[in-house]
Amino acid sequence: MFKGVRPILYGGREVWPLIEGGKGVAATNHASSGAWAAAGGIGTVSAVNADSYDPDGKIIPQVYRALTRRDRHEELIQYAIEGAVEQVKRAFEIAGGRGAININVLWEMGGAQRILHGVLEKTRGMVAGVTCGAGMPYKLSEIAASYGVSYLPIVSSGRAFSALWKRAYSKAAEWLAGVVYEDPWLAGGHNGLSNAEDPKVPQDPYPRVKLLRETMRSGGISDDVPIIMAGGVWFLRDWNDWIDNPELGQIVFQFGTRPLLTQESPIPQGWKDHLTTLNPGDVLLHRFSPTGFYSSAVRNPFLRNLEARSERQIAFSMEAAGDHQYQLDVGVKGKNFWVTLGDLNRAREWYGHGFTTALKTPDNTLVFETPEETKIIRKDQADCMGCLSQCGFSSWADTEGNSTGRLADPRSFCIQKTLQDIAHGGPIDENLMFAGHAAYKFKQDPFYSNGFVPTVKQLVDRILTGD
Ligand SMILES: Cc1cc2nc3c(=O)[nH]c(=O)nc-3n(C[C@H](O)[C@H](O)[C@H](O)COP(=O)(O)O)c2cc1C
Ligand code: SF4
Repeated sequence: MFKGVRPILYGGREVWPLIEGGKGVAATNHASSGAWAAAGGIGTVSAVNADSYDPDGKIIPQVYRALTRRDRHEELIQYAIEGAVEQVKRAFEIAGGRGAININVLWEMGGAQRILHGVLEKTRGMVAGVTCGAGMPYKLSEIAASYGVSYLPIVSSGRAFSALWKRAYSKAAEWLAGVVYEDPWLAGGHNGLSNAEDPKVPQDPYPRVKLLRETMRSGGISDDVPIIMAGGVWFLRDWNDWIDNPELGQIVFQFGTRPLLTQESPIPQGWKDHLTTLNPGDVLLHRFSPTGFYSSAVRNPFLRNLEARSERQIAFSMEAAGDHQYQLDVGVKGKNFWVTLGDLNRAREWYGHGFTTALKTPDNTLVFETPEETKIIRKDQADCMGCLSQCGFSSWADTEGNSTGRLADPRSFCIQKTLQDIAHGGPIDENLMFAGHAAYKFKQDPFYSNGFVPTVKQLVDRILTGD
């Protein structure tokens, strides 16, 4: 029988141990997070390039006017701060003193620290905690603590937490409000798989979370500081053994995919409709993100296009060496591309199918594309506004010189462009549609039968029943 969950103390009040995971760029906002808090849980405003509004309440399109990447990066930081502040204020109002509001930032986003300072400075008393994943956010604890705000790192292993704790977090221990364990094989969005882990061999979260708890204990952290289980959580009844389990300590559950389909969810209708059509296997764990991290998204034509581009790929040498004894005569200018006989034949075939341009990658390979797609790739790279601290696709880096020093990688894409587009009504087939691997449950779960779309309150109440 389902045990049920009890409220926990968070941000000075009792809340349900249920979190709406933050979703960039605008897949959680004031409407969804405010409603989640009003239903008694913890809602998360995405502070990653959030929307701002004009005096008529219309979303201000994030248009970049500056001519250089460096200056567009500054514009982006201003948009990001203004947008997140606006979202937090509105969410706080909707919450009406119930539940709690967190914000989410991506540590690897461009200007992350400045944005965090900018937002926390202008939202004093409204934000209970900051969740932060991607990379190693050592400075998170110090920044959050300086505003009297809690912090909740997102990790995918006990080892990652241990490094953060030892180097930085132990110095601001009282502000650590929880540790999010995000299952790197199941969660939607970016995934924290390490090189030691096989993307094709998922691991049971239980022993990994147990290990995380042991790591936390060895740092002197109380079992009352929750571990927040994220990734693949749908029915709470499936997690019965995790609730009130002394081996794990306090557990809180985070939902990312399920709250995409609510009345208040800000994603466009087409995206919502598509969620209810997904089958097992329709979400792909892949490595095309310009951040270099793995991520999980619906395997739609956008992702298939990237898969196909990477398949049209051959290795080359600048001089004849080893197996590379054949001069490439299609797609490239000049004669300095030596390839194998097999690859020469493959390249000629792609050329014959219209993939007439060969683009260099940072790994001494070439990918073949049509002239039209090549133009789009080059334009997107040129339009870069520096939204990441390091971008594989454009070579932008937040550091001096603003370059990673590596060749721009045509196998990747501009994540800023596509996430802004899909969040604001762009074609769902031609954009990155992040989703968790349990998304197929929308189609199977009777809660959603006959096209039913719950309000956030109805969803939270449903989750509390175990279903
Ligand atoms: C559309 C989408 C966007 C997401 N964006 C972010 C993000 O910007 N930052 C982040 O830390 N997590 C992000 N996530 C992860 C969620 O916050 C949550 O941890 C995860 O979705 C939980 O797993 P689930 O998808 O199985 O529910 C995103 C997830 C989805 C589905
Ligand atoms: S090219 Fe990369 S850094 Fe530039 S805006 Fe796009 S995703 Fe961001």
